[in-house]
Amino acid sequence: MGEAASSKIQDHYASEGIAARILAALRAAWGEDIPVTPDALAPLDHFHGRGLKATEELAALLDPRAGERLLDIGGGIGGPARWIAASFGCRVTSLDLTPECCRTAVELSAATGLSDRVFIIEGIATDLPFGEGEFDRAYSENVAMNIADKPRFYAEALRVLRPGGVFAFSNYGAGPNGDPHFPLPWAAGPLTSFLASPDETREEILDAGFELVVFRDKTEEVLPDLRENRRRLEGQGLPPLGLQTLMGERIAEFQINVARSAEEGRLTIIEALLRKPT
Ligand SMILES: C[S@@+](CC[C@H](N)C(=O)[O-])C[C@H]1O[C@@H](n2cnc3c(N)ncnc32)[C@H](O)[C@@H]1O
Repeated sequence: MGEAASSKIQDHYASEGIAARILAALRAAWGEDIPVTPDALAPLDHFHGRGLKATEELAALLDPRAGERLLDIGGGIGGPARWIAASFGCRVTSLDLTPECCRTAVELSAATGLSDRVFIIEGIATDLPFGEGEFDRAYSENVAMNIADKPRFYAEALRVLRPGGVFAFSNYGAGPNGDPHFPLPWAAGPLTSFLASPDETREEILDAGFELVVFRDKTEEVLPDLRENRRRLEGQGLPPLGLQTLMGERIAEFQINVARSAEEGRLTIIEALLRKPT
């Protein structure tokens, strides 16, 4: 990815003082004494449309075990990493491109008391700063849409896993009916959105050397949630606690465009579990 695209992607996600805003929103909703836990933060720090529900589905596919070393590729502000570390008792390294997301992830991990189990690293998915075989499992949630060089994305995930280690991901892909409606949660326009179709994705995974354990086009399964979210946003506006704290009120238009695009066959939702051969 060129530096211009990379800095446009960071600008899309970054803003000052995210952790303070999130903690203030949490306390305004539930009172000053609310314990800051991964579950309490979940409406605010799972940085993708279907929130904790999507992370739970991905975690069920990943099936992490206590004590394992996990890598979250494009971990955002660390919501999924904290929730998985706390729920399954593993150590999760969350790597992200955007410095402000990483700073937020560090602050929220400290606020939840999880800094000894969740490690935040600033870096780029296509050039991971880790040695071969360092992780038992890896996952990536709604990140690949920002990555142009997908062969390198899969090759790097494969390299850092131990033999037999698994990589689970879920993300939006290209649909059969043309370009999606912009702006979207991951990109204001087509210059920073790189969508592969389910067929292209499957081919890229196999070319990288992964074994395919599960590969699903989840569009039909997820559409009812996207439609319901659109109906609520158009009828009632944003919920009291939501991703607007992170992204501003523009998140409503982004999420409506996701639903419209998926309904019109301009986006697909892809979920997969891959294994590094032994
Ligand atoms: C939609 S957010 C998802 C964050 C997180 N996975 C979650 O679900 O809460 C996408 C994240 O990917 C990061 N990202 C985009 N391109 C990246 C790249 N090439 N390498 C690492 N992170 C990247 C962005 O900075 C952003 O935090």
